[in-house]
Amino acid sequence: MPATVIVGLQWGDEGKGKTTDFLAEQVDCVVRYQGGDNAGHTVVLGDEVFKLHLVPSGILYPHIVPVIANGVVVNPATLLRELDGLAERGIDVSRLRVSRNAHVILPYHIALDSAMEARLASAAVGTTHRGIGPAYADRAWRTGIRMEDLLDTNVLRAKLQRVLPDRNVILSAAYGAETFELEALVELGAGWGDRLRERIVDTTDLVQQALARGDSLLFEGAQGTLLDLDHGSYPYVTSSNPIAGGACTGGGIGPLQVDEVIGVAKAYATRVGAGPFPTELEDAIGEGIATRGREVGTTTGRPRRVGWFDALPTRFAVEINSASSIMLNKLDILSGLDEVRVCVGYDIDGERVERWPASADALARAIPVYETHPGWRESVHDARSLGDLPEEARRYVTRLEELLGVPIHLVSVGPERSQTIVRSVRPYPAARHRR
Ligand code: IMP
Repeated sequence: MPATVIVGLQWGDEGKGKTTDFLAEQVDCVVRYQGGDNAGHTVVLGDEVFKLHLVPSGILYPHIVPVIANGVVVNPATLLRELDGLAERGIDVSRLRVSRNAHVILPYHIALDSAMEARLASAAVGTTHRGIGPAYADRAWRTGIRMEDLLDTNVLRAKLQRVLPDRNVILSAAYGAETFELEALVELGAGWGDRLRERIVDTTDLVQQALARGDSLLFEGAQGTLLDLDHGSYPYVTSSNPIAGGACTGGGIGPLQVDEVIGVAKAYATRVGAGPFPTELEDAIGEGIATRGREVGTTTGRPRRVGWFDALPTRFAVEINSASSIMLNKLDILSGLDEVRVCVGYDIDGERVERWPASADALARAIPVYETHPGWRESVHDARSLGDLPEEARRYVTRLEELLGVPIHLVSVGPERSQTIVRSVRPYPAARHRR
């Protein structure tokens, strides 16, 4: 019953796409369990680069069933655009399935997201303006539209009739923003339903049946632990639960059905959007890392903030995800630095703190306490075992492992699948398609 969760241990953009790509051969089904088209997965396959926002990266492999599960908020316009784009590039998209229960992002969610961010001005979260927060808010408010509602025009019209007047009042009276016409939205939603009808299914049942058959399933988290609605630095978070527990609520499995959690971290840290980031580098070193690491948001094109690896939040992330192993990405980007630093504690109001503080206030006052390690000049692109790395890089990896308390099984030293140091991979049963 192998169900593996892949989860980001930092603020997203840890390179989870590469982890999925690396394991794809052994997997029958890739399930996305939260977030929406705010995410960005970049997968390099041979000479081709694929940038996906909503469709699970499993779509790129003909043997994998990609699933958008109930915990995802779906903008059907993005979904259809991505499917069309992939089909044009010769990818078979027929296997993709979407949960009946997944909530739909409608144009008024996007308008509300932008209007609220504009109103917050300097206190803005720095969202991706994809309507994620308002769509999840409607879900919690029990006024959301679900994918299954798109399949019946009368149901869709009745549900929109209940919610739209309220949303229009808020948009026009509170924000002076554009409002939306009921019939235009019904037509839009019904059109999406028509095109997606065959794919809209009970994905919980699909997942449970696959597990019962003994298939290998990968639950792919979007964003990262430190953007988690409950465990991140609220309010500078996303509106879902990227943590491994989110795979249960959003993916349709029970906690005891998860048998491995792979935490993914970069060898340094990045963050997009506002919020505390104690190890942020606002100097030439940060700029160098950002340039070499191409640290630009996949979804928004915004430059990512860059900082040293921070062991406190990453260790916290290992704990709350019960990560069983780690994939460390982008080690190659640190090549060429005189020294590399790792944050091992904070000074908060004169006190040494060694655990990630739950309070965003305390975090905003945290001064990082660093360990400084010698850097390495050599390229690490060709390393295929830890022994191939320059000694300084090897020491850096083993020090991170010590600080995080779980084994780093995979180390990425370049964008290609082959540019990976494999220290240990769990022996998966051969994927069903290969038996
Ligand atoms: P939202 O998810 O669009 O509501 O944005 C909330 C916060 O999460 C903002 O700081 C975004 O920059 C951040 N965020 C959302 N999706 C991603 C992602 O895929 N990678 C990194 N940051 C993200």
